[in-house]
Amino acid sequence: MSPAASHHASEAVAVAAERRWAIIVVSIIGLLVLMMVITGLHWASMPPSRVETVDVKTVHIRGEFVEGNLGTALDPDGTVTVRLVAQQYSFVPQCIVVPEGMPVTFRATATDAIHGFVVGRTNANTMLVPGFVSTFTTTFPKAGEQLMPCHEYCGTGHEAMWAHVQVLPRDEFLAKARSAERVSCVPS
Ligand code: CUA
Repeated sequence: MSPAASHHASEAVAVAAERRWAIIVVSIIGLLVLMMVITGLHWASMPPSRVETVDVKTVHIRGEFVEGNLGTALDPDGTVTVRLVAQQYSFVPQCIVVPEGMPVTFRATATDAIHGFVVGRTNANTMLVPGFVSTFTTTFPKAGEQLMPCHEYCGTGHEAMWAHVQVLPRDEFLAKARSAERVSCVPS
């Protein structure tokens, strides 16, 4: 092979290799873009069933989660709503009153880090994320006292973060709830 021919041959090899790598790189980029498009369309077509937000900066000052509105409320239509706030490292209120055998709706949020709670051995179990309102409805089948620990690691005080839940017999709860706008079992 003449020097010119050998030069042409090696140039052809280099061009072919470059083209191969260019195809591989463009394919990878194309695949990533395709993944973004597919996941984007998937989320757009199947949004979470409900998302309710709250402004962390004003949650203590105005709106549903001001301190005076926390605790358990018995609405005129008979629904029971518990509102609470989680923060490092406590729940407000620290002691929650709920009735036995009646549906109870929790509405709760966090102000600083991700917290969560579970009530005893019930299915009352949720995460609390700053900026979002977590809600769920459950029924407590048995009267008695339950512990409610934080179950998301939220910092050095995590293991000391818990509240009490008092499940009262229905009549006792109704009498207590009718006597005050918001009830809790926090000693006053
Ligand atoms: Cu709050 Cu762990």
